[in-house]
Amino acid sequence: MNAKLNQVLLHKKSCVGANLSAWLHQQGQKGLEKALKNHEDIISVIKTAGLRGLGGSGFPTHVKWTAIAQQPNNTDKYLICNGNEDEPGTYKDRILLRKTPHQLIEGALIMALSAKINHIIFYINPDLGECISTMNQAVAQWQVHELFARCCDSVGKPINLTVLPSSGHYIGGEETAAIETVEGKYPFPRRKPPYPSQAGVNQCPTVINNVETLCNVAHILKNGSQWYQNLGLGHACGTKIYTLTGDVLHPGSYELPMGTPLSELINVYGGGMLLNKKFKAVFTGGPSNTLLTAKDFDVPLDFESVAKRRSSLGTGAMIVVSEGTGIVKRVAEYVNFFAQSSCGQCPPCKTGTYYISRLLNKIDTGEGRTEDLEQLVNLCHILPGSGRCGLIDGAVKVLESSLDHFGHEYRQALRVT
Ligand SMILES: Cc1cc2nc3c(=O)[nH]c(=O)nc-3n(C[C@H](O)[C@H](O)[C@H](O)COP(=O)(O)O)c2cc1C
Ligand code: SF4
Repeated sequence: MNAKLNQVLLHKKSCVGANLSAWLHQQGQKGLEKALKNHEDIISVIKTAGLRGLGGSGFPTHVKWTAIAQQPNNTDKYLICNGNEDEPGTYKDRILLRKTPHQLIEGALIMALSAKINHIIFYINPDLGECISTMNQAVAQWQVHELFARCCDSVGKPINLTVLPSSGHYIGGEETAAIETVEGKYPFPRRKPPYPSQAGVNQCPTVINNVETLCNVAHILKNGSQWYQNLGLGHACGTKIYTLTGDVLHPGSYELPMGTPLSELINVYGGGMLLNKKFKAVFTGGPSNTLLTAKDFDVPLDFESVAKRRSSLGTGAMIVVSEGTGIVKRVAEYVNFFAQSSCGQCPPCKTGTYYISRLLNKIDTGEGRTEDLEQLVNLCHILPGSGRCGLIDGAVKVLESSLDHFGHEYRQALRVT
């Protein structure tokens, strides 16, 4: 068990529901107060802390914030707090939205102070009804609080706080698709550039951050950059909510130091493999990444260490599979999800994901032939980078890595006559 276990986001003191007075009493209002006093320092504190985007990309948060802070302040500026959370195996933002709404709102207000943002949109998957109602109650309490009035004074404009159900599509979580949704349109991802910080909602500067990313902000301001850095293991900073599902005894969402080894997550927190079966592989960060296999069992789960194994930490979702589970069937299910989720505006993605899905189903049901397998391998070379957003690349990555690691399962499934 990790001696350094320090829960921040899911700490019981953070879990005060929608009661703003209780939240401010427990936190001593310190994060926001410090931000109000020194709003010019917010971004450098976040930079030194090493906060990275926890919605999948791991992009350094301060870089995005600097980009929007540098945009002129005589225009509207938007912050979208991304709570779309629709990727298979990812169940973390919904816990934060439901249990700790004020932690998120305080973080979003601090972000707003750093770049003079006057529209904050809490963008939430419509299936998460309880999260939406909790956030609505929490927002209503902030809107009449004197701290909120002081934030508006500091920004120099009234700040609009809005809770907006997303369209419910997986693709609606992609940042430019979220912008389209906020504008009342279908969530078609946009071509980049221009980047959201240059021209986002209604062509105004916009920043999009994940719910978990923003939940860290008030704590960092309150406790300092060094404190946040020290929460992680090795070179990693902060904590991470890992969602552990699949063939483990105790699936769940665990907030642990960033850099906790996969083996510890599974054996200690997950209670070990279900029915004492042998570990086979894990679909990481949602199923849109390269698989980790038995040789990676000890990999520290932080952005850099997982990248060194040519995979990605992504959202921190870990879908564990044990020996005896057919990889072809699993990959077929995930690629089918991506094919169903494609918005269809890029022909290679629309037809490519559908075609891969068909080939995988054919092989999985024993009808595949050698040429079908060759087609799959070819598609892995042709399709990457052919879409406007990362959906197509995610679908190909999981396919390609399953072919690399478990190619024998594909070959065994082929029809012999
Ligand atoms: C297909 C697709 C779906 C996505 N869905 C989500 C989502 O549900 N929530 C999220 O925070 N980020 C999602 N992202 C990533 C966002 O585009 C964006 O990188 C993220 O919200 C930025 O926040 P962060 O920097 O705090 O991680 C998705 C990306 C893609 C390509
Ligand atoms: S890559 Fe796929 S999901 Fe992304 S914009 Fe193109 S068609 Fe839509």
